[in-house]
Amino acid sequence: MSNSADPAESLLVRAATGRPGPRPPVWFMRQAGRSLPEYRALRVGTSMLESCRTPDLITEITLQPVRRHKVDAAIFFSDIVVPLAAIGVGIDIVPGVGPVVEKPIRETADLDQLRALDADDVPYVTEAIGNLVGELGGTPLIGFAGAPFTLASYLVEGGPSKDHARTKSLMHGRPELWHGLCARLAVIAREFLRVQVDAGASAIQLFDSWAGALSLADYEEFVLPHSQAVLEPLAGLVPRIHFGVGTGELLAAMRCAGADVVGVDWRVPLDEAARRLGPGVIVQGNLDPALLQAEWPVIDRAVRRVVEQGRAADGHIFNLGHGVPPSTDPDVLTRIVELVHSTPS
Ligand code: CP3
Repeated sequence: MSNSADPAESLLVRAATGRPGPRPPVWFMRQAGRSLPEYRALRVGTSMLESCRTPDLITEITLQPVRRHKVDAAIFFSDIVVPLAAIGVGIDIVPGVGPVVEKPIRETADLDQLRALDADDVPYVTEAIGNLVGELGGTPLIGFAGAPFTLASYLVEGGPSKDHARTKSLMHGRPELWHGLCARLAVIAREFLRVQVDAGASAIQLFDSWAGALSLADYEEFVLPHSQAVLEPLAGLVPRIHFGVGTGELLAAMRCAGADVVGVDWRVPLDEAARRLGPGVIVQGNLDPALLQAEWPVIDRAVRRVVEQGRAADGHIFNLGHGVPPSTDPDVLTRIVELVHSTPS
């Protein structure tokens, strides 16, 4: 699906390793999913978690946006809760809601649910990635995992939360339990990423989607060491991307977690993000997903602005500031790819 047969020489991996090519690479968080009619058709009658355990479905769903939009990377079709379900945690993904946990973590004994994960727990991941690497040719595959804080938030709250009140209360009120929980989640996330790299992923992204709910002080004390425990042991294998929403105050700290590329949401322009992050940084982002609903001239201007601001960094991977909303017209995404592809880096 790409001209160059070696994903290590793809625009994405080049940008992520400080060797930018002639134009920025582009992919979209949640590019595989409900915005695509071919995805909705494939998913009829199969639950989300079952889909994530079925190699043929994973492979096909991962390839759909690459074929349709000609994006410069595939992202592995899975979910941040898949490794938790794989080790036996009672968790489901409820349509329109998100991850819901049977027995939320409240006490030290609850941590027994969280044993370490290894490749044998997720054979469908290894199998699907093997198939994908063959199908994708020179197009890189991005593997991913949820970061300890974001996973912990679901496990402590029992489901999605706006204010993360129980999570923050536990973090401050029961710091030993908190650190014990995050240490276990770090092992699970790290090994889930390692399985994907061993199977052939060309880059990885650690999603700490909800880290923006935290102050810098809380992030540094309660979260950063655990995200470091995920990313640092994976140094030197493939480029590591680290992303969260609303993390303008946390960007430099997130880089310290061991990120080669820092994902930025739409709230901070990329030139300002590059300034906050310091020399030698590579950024990913950050078109406001809300603008996908706008008239094309508005989108055109916004895309060009993101590319222009991205030039302030040592490398730029074009993306949205968060995932593709399910109501997005997929033709708009295809057009954005064409526009980015016509713009020099
Ligand atoms: O294309 C891709 O980006 C790859 C697939 C992917 C999914 N989930 C598939 C999915 C990725 C990278 C994720 C990560 C994920 N899952 C995150 C981090 C990224 C982010 O958005 O911040 C989070 C927080 C989750 C948890 C989760 N899973 C939520 C909040 C939801 C949405 C619930 C809903 O129905 O609105 C899910 C389900 C989910 N994960 C879907 C997809 C395609 C939708 C399920 C469906 O199609 O039925």
